[in-house]
Amino acid sequence: MKPFGIGLLGCGTIGSGVVEVLHRQRELIRRRTGFDLRLVAVADPSPERLAGLPLDGAATHADGLEVVRRPDVDIVVELIGGVRIARQATVEALRLGKTVVTANKHLLADHGRELWAAAQQAPAGLFFEASVAGGIPLLKAVREGLVANRIRSVRGILNGTCNYILTAMQETGAAYADVLAEAQAKGYAEKEPALDVDGIDTAHKVCVLAALAFGCPATTAQLPATGISALCAEDIRWNLDWDHRIKLLGLLEREGDLLRGGVSPVVLHEDSLLAKVDGVFNAVLVEGDIVGQTLYYGRGAGRLPTASAVVSDIVDAAAFRLMPQDAWTPRWPVADDPVTLRPLTFDQGRFYARFDLPEGPALAEQAVRAALARHRVPVQALQSGGFSPGSRVGLLTGECRRKTLESVAAEVGAVAAPLLLPVRSFTSG
Ligand code: HSE
Repeated sequence: MKPFGIGLLGCGTIGSGVVEVLHRQRELIRRRTGFDLRLVAVADPSPERLAGLPLDGAATHADGLEVVRRPDVDIVVELIGGVRIARQATVEALRLGKTVVTANKHLLADHGRELWAAAQQAPAGLFFEASVAGGIPLLKAVREGLVANRIRSVRGILNGTCNYILTAMQETGAAYADVLAEAQAKGYAEKEPALDVDGIDTAHKVCVLAALAFGCPATTAQLPATGISALCAEDIRWNLDWDHRIKLLGLLEREGDLLRGGVSPVVLHEDSLLAKVDGVFNAVLVEGDIVGQTLYYGRGAGRLPTASAVVSDIVDAAAFRLMPQDAWTPRWPVADDPVTLRPLTFDQGRFYARFDLPEGPALAEQAVRAALARHRVPVQALQSGGFSPGSRVGLLTGECRRKTLESVAAEVGAVAAPLLLPVRSFTSG
């Protein structure tokens, strides 16, 4: 069989991993699939990043569009990152009928509809396994393994950086800012960590999952996203004392024709599966109407785990190029039933609430308990502690309304908006 020509755009951390995997596993993949995946061209504006890589004779370019337009490139692998240039290169590749593999969740979240339309029009293939949950073959599982299901919910830890920070706060008792600085020093967190810690990276991944699992393309503007930067050491420690963990989750939950989606730190009992996922790992619970609940776990980021997903997509892209046009192919999005996206707002339920008050702990606790009793908010656990010059009071509630807890904060003279996190348990339906 004629080799498939691969053109790689962007040779940073993930790109260099893809070069390495294609070099190391080319023969293995050929034996397993019959496909000879040949890297024919690589583009990167910094030639020094290409030095020392096992390029196996691939041509090097500074301009990605030159690679896209090469006649010997069948499959374009977009690992440029960002949106503007990546979008231009991807649209051009699809227009030329090339098959595109991308890890770019930001591009898919902002321009997924346009890219899919371009792919359909060409027609061309568009594969994006590495855009969500890194090395975990999550999208393939949803698209193919669960093809007989209507998906009811997708809930998961989708950002390794945030999970690393929350785990380190849990294990060391350190403050958020100190743990973030350490994560940056170790290279886990970016120097500009806002995309991760503000929940935006998770929201991008939720957008991709909304399209794939529910046929409902979403943009980040439609999804409320709260990150982890408002969490303090007491939030983590008190929940630990109460056998609970705080995890940043991406959530999509379907009820009839409504799909509720969002990103938030969520309080989980320590026995729940997602509460046990620590460090840089990702884990995603997907519930289908036929299969029930399924769980996917693994490394959601990093050079080789992400390259593993990209190369798996390259194999799928090669198979796609051999298929007759009317054969079943992974399509995105497929709206099986009309569904309307609404923000997941956590207006009612159980909460972890933290109030910051100007008084010392004893007076603050007394005031909070009295206000909660007046509003008949059930209290399951409560602690108070230092916060100079005032104090903090944290508690787990029974069923109540978010608005009630906001009223409590106003009545006790809280010095800032209360931290209100949903307490959830996810059981199979
Ligand atoms: N910054 C992301 C994370 C990389 O920490 O999960 C993978 O998308």
